[in-house]
Amino acid sequence: MSPDLTTSVGPLALRSPLIAASGTVGSVTELAGVADLSVYGAAVAKSVSAEPWSGRPAPRLAPAGAGMLNGIGIQNPGIEAWRTEVGPRLEGLEVPVWGSAVGHSPDEFALVAKGLEASGVAAIEINLSCPNLDGDMFSLDPSASEEVVASVRRAVGLPLGAKLSPNLIDAVPVAQACATAGADFLTLTNTIWGAGVDIKTRRPQLSGVIGGYSGPPLKPIALRFVIEVRQALPQMPIVGCGGVLTGKDIAEYLIAGAQAVAAGTIHLAEPRAGKRLIDELIDWMRKHRVSSVGSLINTLDLP
Ligand SMILES: Cc1cc2nc3c(=O)[nH]c(=O)nc-3n(C[C@H](O)[C@H](O)[C@H](O)COP(=O)(O)O)c2cc1C
Repeated sequence: MSPDLTTSVGPLALRSPLIAASGTVGSVTELAGVADLSVYGAAVAKSVSAEPWSGRPAPRLAPAGAGMLNGIGIQNPGIEAWRTEVGPRLEGLEVPVWGSAVGHSPDEFALVAKGLEASGVAAIEINLSCPNLDGDMFSLDPSASEEVVASVRRAVGLPLGAKLSPNLIDAVPVAQACATAGADFLTLTNTIWGAGVDIKTRRPQLSGVIGGYSGPPLKPIALRFVIEVRQALPQMPIVGCGGVLTGKDIAEYLIAGAQAVAAGTIHLAEPRAGKRLIDELIDWMRKHRVSSVGSLINTLDLP
């Protein structure tokens, strides 16, 4: 028998614990013709802002060790264009699409969230943790995070997730603030700040100098947040995110206490990775006689 892959993230029932992470599958519509979307529980579209953002100039991507640096700066068409151009194409997709909101102020986040809701997304992830924005990162400050989440909560009725940064020393006060403000789940985590140097030109590898580091080196860092937040807020649903490369990585996040697991960077090298990841997870579950994802979640044997 095939193991039961169903899970839930707060009010959201998912057929699979695998989620496509924001920014790595475009607006999801691009992936539809290329990959099997039925293996995902949800796919998160690239973050959208109130006005169009052009993003940073090239170079914006650079391989770095076993991971990748990006300094894209949330290039996006703005919520109005997104609503008219992307919104109508979401309905026929084989996967629930979650929108992702980004902004410079609580009001901007709320405006974007309203536009995403009108576009028919199933949930909204509030991107409090973009590493490539000028100004302070909301996720580093519990009260700033609380204000943004509360503003979005007042604006829309959809399930809301808050996406936090791994650049925190302690994520728990921020996680608590987001929960108090009405977040239904947390996504742990976004990319971590990093930089690279081109020794030939002696220039930074990214035009913005500092960017977001993602891929396999991020997994232990993000897992630390999943474990700590799970212990501090036992009832808060968590989407683990960072460095997923194999089906076993998904199992690790589930055991650590995540209800679902997002994979990002892997899609850039391997757009059809979702099917392989789920096949590997199923193989692993069969081999270890795990009959359901539900029975795996939060089973970490802590000392
Ligand atoms: C090229 C690129 C673009 C990204 N854009 C976004 C974005 O628009 N919004 C967001 O919340 N996260 C964005 N992320 C972060 C990913 O969603 C994810 O949190 C992070 O990359 C860690 O997961 P990974 O190691 O599996 O990639 C982006 C990541 C990459 C590599």
